[in-house]
Amino acid sequence: MGGPNSPLKSGDSPRLLQIGGAPRSACVTERARRARVGPRPNVFVTRRLPGGALERLGERVDAKVWPGEGAPSPEELRREARRSQGLLCLLTDRIDSPLLDRCRDLRVISTCSVGVDHIDLAAASARGIPVGYTPGVLVETTADLAFGLLLAASRRLVEADRFVREGGWTPDRSWDPGLLLGRDLWGATLGVVGLGAIGQAVARRGQGFGMRVLGWTPSRRPVPGVEPVEFAALLEAADFVSLHVALAPETRNLIDARALARMRPGAVLVNAARGGLVDEEALADALRGGRLAAAGLDVFAHEPLDRDSPLLRAPNLVLTPHIGSASVATRARMADLAVDNLLAGLERRPLPHCANAAALG
Ligand code: DGY
Repeated sequence: MGGPNSPLKSGDSPRLLQIGGAPRSACVTERARRARVGPRPNVFVTRRLPGGALERLGERVDAKVWPGEGAPSPEELRREARRSQGLLCLLTDRIDSPLLDRCRDLRVISTCSVGVDHIDLAAASARGIPVGYTPGVLVETTADLAFGLLLAASRRLVEADRFVREGGWTPDRSWDPGLLLGRDLWGATLGVVGLGAIGQAVARRGQGFGMRVLGWTPSRRPVPGVEPVEFAALLEAADFVSLHVALAPETRNLIDARALARMRPGAVLVNAARGGLVDEEALADALRGGRLAAAGLDVFAHEPLDRDSPLLRAPNLVLTPHIGSASVATRARMADLAVDNLLAGLERRPLPHCANAAALG
């Protein structure tokens, strides 16, 4: 994107990319069109997105796209959102009440994520602003990653890779019966915390691997092939625990020192949902003390992970940088859905996926 074949061209701000708007030679035609149908809405997109969705957006709106690898600063976000009728954001952009107070023209917020904990939904609803999100399209991809972490942590794959690369695999250890022993998934018990679409997809993978699958979900909704249990019973019985609940005040630090102490000695914990679900200091202690055999984390309380996080020094821990939905096809589908939501909101149509539909009535 932004290369010679891209529709992106430098915008009026030296740092933003602009898509949409008329090329110079089309100015007269464009003026006539604007007089007929009114100006195209202004949209701020807080990151370049994979796939062709932004090109499609550029055909309908005047969009400014933040060109950096990272998120725009809060000041930059405020400045651009203030001038926009549509905001297409990511989970790294905090959309709160003070920001919305400045955005008098905003008609729609569309986040390219299934999680909406970075957006004050109540504040958006109070201002009549629909919030679009991207459920459904990232379910299987995120479940693959969670299961990948489970396998990597239990079979010590990262450690094994390091062992080979760093020259540990010497002729005298060409096949060592005690080398890098891990834990079997087959025959073990998987506890799935949260049985929404992603939790259910992880449960199916567990069943495919010959695991007994227990599940706890706040709604107590039954799921075929999953034995429903209370949260404490799940922690006490599961050899592997995988988290799939949303981050909310009642789930923050769900896995704290007490919960970790309840887990089976030698259990493995995986979190590909939201960082705030796990007390990271307590998890580092549990890994250091050998209470847990291993863990795999894709999400963290502060992202990117602080360089002085105790997790970086904890043993038997596989870390990935929030890549649950990071497949080529899924990220393109998320971007498409985010653009669909945005265009619907700009045209005052119901959003295909609206996180605050109930509150808007
Ligand atoms: C989301 O969309 O909320 C995910 O965390 C991104 O992978």
